Amino acid sequence: MQKVVVLDFGGQYNQLIARRVRECSVYCEVKPYHTPLPVLREMDPIGIIFTGGPNSVYDEKAPHVDPEIFRLGVPILGICYGCQLLAHSLGGRVAAAQADTAREYGKTETRYDTACRLFRGLPETGVSWMSHGDYMEKVPEGFTLAARSGACPNVAIADEARGFYGVQFHPEVDHTEHGLQMLRNFLYEVCGAKGDWTMGDYCKSAVAAIREKVGDGKVLLALSGGVDSSVAAALLAEAVGRQLTCVFVDHGLMRKDEGDEVENAFAKWDLNFIRVNAETRFLLKLAGVDGPERKRKIIGEEFIRVFEEEAKKLGRVDFLAQGTIYPDVIESGAGDAAVIKSHHNVGGLPDCVDFREIIEPLRMLFKDEVRALGRELGLPEYLVMRQPFPGPGLAIRIIGDITKEKADTLREADAIYREEIAAAGLDRAINQYFAVLTNTRSVGVMGDGRTYDYTLALRAVTTSDFMTADWARIPYDVLERVSVRIVNEVSMINRIVYDITSKPPATVEWE
Ligand code: XMP
Repeated sequence: MQKVVVLDFGGQYNQLIARRVRECSVYCEVKPYHTPLPVLREMDPIGIIFTGGPNSVYDEKAPHVDPEIFRLGVPILGICYGCQLLAHSLGGRVAAAQADTAREYGKTETRYDTACRLFRGLPETGVSWMSHGDYMEKVPEGFTLAARSGACPNVAIADEARGFYGVQFHPEVDHTEHGLQMLRNFLYEVCGAKGDWTMGDYCKSAVAAIREKVGDGKVLLALSGGVDSSVAAALLAEAVGRQLTCVFVDHGLMRKDEGDEVENAFAKWDLNFIRVNAETRFLLKLAGVDGPERKRKIIGEEFIRVFEEEAKKLGRVDFLAQGTIYPDVIESGAGDAAVIKSHHNVGGLPDCVDFREIIEPLRMLFKDEVRALGRELGLPEYLVMRQPFPGPGLAIRIIGDITKEKADTLREADAIYREEIAAAGLDRAINQYFAVLTNTRSVGVMGDGRTYDYTLALRAVTTSDFMTADWARIPYDVLERVSVRIVNEVSMINRIVYDITSKPPATVEWE
């Protein structure tokens, strides 16, 4: 399979570049900028992309590349910092722009030379997204100018003979018109890509690779019911069937019918599927607990205990499988941000299980690719498109102490909400939506009687990364239908409110 290497110089859009390349059906991997040349040579890429980065090429600590990279005979596309680095390394001159001259941020009207392979087939003018303080004062020898803007004559440079291109703007972001086409041109017109990255092929080769790695060994997977662990389970089931044991801990805090849906989805494979119905056990541990962090800790610990008990019954396993995906891999080791909430995923389990090796079959896939793979394997759409659901489940959507009655009430209300959002055709446009059972009670009137019941909050957000989020503008008539149905059909609730806070300052979940 052909491969492109994205050399990471620390820019904020690096993952996006890799995703875009894969959207063009070309496989690529993100590697640190200091990846040694022999490693790059070994990877045998058809093209290399230098990403943007926060530095100026003249900074003392500015990242550089081994100049030999330019003699590999491999086409290179430099983006933003990558462009300046390309120019600087090949004898051009990069300078800090004066405030009102060539320094540009944001949407910029740009003129392209459409004779250049990078811009072939594009309109001659378009908006590009700029974000640079430096600019190329002198273009390196052998390069021509291929795009200009009002403030800057050197927006893009090209050495068509060597296949080297540099752009000051970001073709990978949506704000750049025809940006994807520019990347496609680089891949197909310059690098000679064949477009051989398809999920069908990937699925076959992943199955073969897992079979070879696992041999006749035993594999254990903690299945949460989320997209990643479900697709990992399906892939492993396809590859090694009964050598795989999936332990699905149902803590009784899933959404309505979710436990059964997960179980049913795996009926088509002959694997060892263990569902542990641990509702009573979890509710007992959670009784009377109302602190969000305490709830999270209790659930995390109990989860490990249940999993461990099941794992012990199996004795030693050879592989512990995890649903790690590529963004986790790229981001691992990044920063030490303050802990706002302790997230419990079914990841951190290795300590309690006797196993030889970890296997992460989705390690190289982005989320949308994970979903595509799930479809390829025949997982149902509702599972593949499932919105994120926190490990602690409804426990952190019931404010205050948790009882079975409250959990059942919330499940019913949440199901109605989801049903109506889907019926209104909004389920794809809104990235996450759910109901929260608050611990506020208020007076209402139903029929001729007074009620004193709970307030239910509806939450819906749009976001691309869940780090920041905006509240979704759900049409009033949809909200009205949801409200009327819930108060009529679900007992214990007499008031509905809609959460109109973004993140920050709020978070997506209430606890
Ligand atoms: P917050 O509430 O932190 O949520 O804005 C951001 C995203 O993370 C999900 N979330 C979790 N996911 N385990 C998870 O696997 C957790 O403990 C957890 N807490 C929050 C939340 O649903 C949202 O998608």
